[in-house]
Amino acid sequence: MKKNVLITGASGFIGSFIVEESIKKGYQTFAGIRKSSSKKYLTDSQINFLELDLNNDTSLDISLQNFAKQYGKLDFVIHTAGVTKSINKADFDTVNFDSTKKFVNALKRNNLVPEKFVFVSSLASYGPGIDAYPITIANQQQPLTEYGKSKLKAEQFFRLNEDFPSVTINPTAVYGPRDKDFFVLLKSISNHLEVYINNDRQLLSFVHVHDLVDAIFIAMESTALHQNLLVSDLSNYTSREFNNLVKKALNVKTISIIVPAAVAGFFAVISEVIGNIKGKTPLLNRERLKEFKAKNWSVACTQIEQLGYTPKYKLEEGIQHTIDWYKQQGWIK
Ligand SMILES: NC(=O)c1ccc[n+]([C@@H]2O[C@H](COP(=O)([O-])OP(=O)(O)OC[C@H]3O[C@@H](n4cnc5c(N)ncnc54)[C@H](OP(=O)(O)O)[C@@H]3O)[C@@H](O)[C@H]2O)c1
Repeated sequence: MKKNVLITGASGFIGSFIVEESIKKGYQTFAGIRKSSSKKYLTDSQINFLELDLNNDTSLDISLQNFAKQYGKLDFVIHTAGVTKSINKADFDTVNFDSTKKFVNALKRNNLVPEKFVFVSSLASYGPGIDAYPITIANQQQPLTEYGKSKLKAEQFFRLNEDFPSVTINPTAVYGPRDKDFFVLLKSISNHLEVYINNDRQLLSFVHVHDLVDAIFIAMESTALHQNLLVSDLSNYTSREFNNLVKKALNVKTISIIVPAAVAGFFAVISEVIGNIKGKTPLLNRERLKEFKAKNWSVACTQIEQLGYTPKYKLEEGIQHTIDWYKQQGWIK
């Protein structure tokens, strides 16, 4: 009998690729979505949909009881649902921590504890590295942002629940087809504009979404339990190296603008005000600015490597692959 996998956040950038891979791997695949979720990237007829209101105990119980009646057990859960940006700071805690806790407790209450629960956290739960040393799982976790703090709270919840079979994935910045955040950056470069905040050397790490999905399944299918697994493409870059690769892939020349942090802070406030009026979270906001200003997001991913993870995309080819997709979709001319 096929093992079943439930993926929350299935409608999102990363979740939609996890769903595709799960089907490819022959799992009976359940896409956990909300009533309001888009199914734009969830068109495969083999997808089973499960509506979950992660913030409502009663509704969760009903959904999970119906699932148990129909399918018996749940073999694996990949919990991808999360808020990465919001105008309302409280959303980070409500979704990334509180709903995660409610979901886990509902699985326990309804006798649906899986063989393995993969929690998709973030490098943000660690905070930036010290000096120029890559971030490792031995680092003291000191998140800079409300987002990072909410992910850390969820990780701490899993650490307290030793009887619950979880593993935590901490991806660095994820890029690839369908992503709308990197797109803003690439679009700006395609419009010949390269923006730096301060003139500091910033160390960065990245992972292509296909490689992250591979890492998630490696973690799920391995014996790894109760541990954090940092995931990148196993290299680190400076922000200038990143921009140069984008310029090369787009074949464009740019004008570089160096914006002092105080000026960027002023624009972040303005764009938050506009965002509040429009009801949309702007890419540049004060929380994100903390991440843009941090000098070291380089990472060492020893643990996932030891489980056999080998990324297929180095940054140069990953960027090209992503830009080709944006062009195909008409997002970039
Ligand atoms: N993208 C990155 O660079 C990156 C890096 C590290 C970690 N991560 C983590 O990876 C996960 C997925 O990120 P992503 O980039 O794919 O984000 P995304 O495209 O915004 O997708 C987020 C997903 O979470 C769902 N979600 C949001 N709020 C929810 C709620 N209250 N209840 C139930 N579902 C909710 C969304 O559902 P709707 O479609 O219904 O809104 C969507 O399916 C997140 O947990 C994020 O923290 C992302």
